[in-house]
Amino acid sequence: MQYRELGQTGMKVSTISFGAWAIGGSWGSVDDKESLSALHRSIDLGVNFIDTADVYGEGRSERLVEKLRKERKETIYVATKAGRRLDPHVADGYNRANLTAFVERSLKNLATDAIDLLQLHCPPTEVYYHPETFDVLDDLVRAGKLRHYGVSVEKVEEALKAIEYPNVQTVQIIFNIFRQRPAELFFAEALRRKVGILARVPLASGMLTGKLTAKSTFEADDHRAFNRHGESFDRGETFSGVDYDTGLQAVEELRALVPQGWSMTQFALRWILMFDAVTCAIPGAKNTGQAAENARASALPGIGEADMARIRQVYDSMIREKVHQRW
Ligand SMILES: NC(=O)c1ccc[n+]([C@@H]2O[C@H](COP(=O)([O-])OP(=O)(O)OC[C@H]3O[C@@H](n4cnc5c(N)ncnc54)[C@H](OP(=O)(O)O)[C@@H]3O)[C@@H](O)[C@H]2O)c1
Repeated sequence: MQYRELGQTGMKVSTISFGAWAIGGSWGSVDDKESLSALHRSIDLGVNFIDTADVYGEGRSERLVEKLRKERKETIYVATKAGRRLDPHVADGYNRANLTAFVERSLKNLATDAIDLLQLHCPPTEVYYHPETFDVLDDLVRAGKLRHYGVSVEKVEEALKAIEYPNVQTVQIIFNIFRQRPAELFFAEALRRKVGILARVPLASGMLTGKLTAKSTFEADDHRAFNRHGESFDRGETFSGVDYDTGLQAVEELRALVPQGWSMTQFALRWILMFDAVTCAIPGAKNTGQAAENARASALPGIGEADMARIRQVYDSMIREKVHQRW
């Protein structure tokens, strides 16, 4: 396992960390015992950072992470998120009373006195123009409830605006072979300001594992069935916003580039780590096999220039027009 500094937080985190959305819910049926085994396998292989949220299974994911921490002696850093419990999900809801209550609930779920990293959970764009929200986060740090805070964003413009706030330590953003725009301007700016980057949806919701086909089916409570067109939340969170058939075609083009001995999944994850600005990728994993395959991508050798250029060509010719200017 390789590690990188997470911005200026002092935390050195595994370049392949763990995304704990699927083990909470919205991804078809999951079994807590299997989820916990997946978490344990990740820690066995050097993963030391987990991304969760208060809304993943209404606390189920946070509580599983807490159980894991209790069962392990290693240091395991946890990032959680706040904001999505708001209903309606509006900018004004990101106020002192609500944020404080959300943080208190996460502290309880995680059975801890202080949250390592709290991220605003894809708030409406307007929130980035409300400095008072960030003042509340500063106060929560001063009160010892948060060690650090950051943001999870949908759009590059939100990422650029968020890092104008000096205490925003991290940005979580969709970055994968199907979502290359963050590398254009945002990465340089994040490096300049020493802001950590969590690359989320690194496998485009499983599409970049190469295992999906035109015949694949998903359970009704899996967002890959119910959110393909953004019916419940931002469309970009499901298959990165790329329509299913185009995704499958692009994967076939990429398959030819996968080095011998690597899986397509590992190729997709290693591609993300080619970018120095990225601190870690946070793939979701539902079982020990997935967890191990993902973790092992960290130490693979770099991808050569010619293959990087070919990946870029696939993006430019097949994917770019679908996503580039949208997020
Ligand atoms: N708004 C936000 O802040 C936000 C939004 C989205 C995600 N996130 C974070 O980012 C993390 C990662 O994104 P994601 O979970 O949406 O998508 P992802 O990591 O691109 O895809 C994860 C899914 O792909 C499949 N998979 C993973 N590893 C595999 C392997 N080795 N072989 C075969 N299949 C594999 C699993 O589902 P199946 O086995 O069912 O195919 C898994 O649940 C989340 O867990 C969450 O922590 C945050």
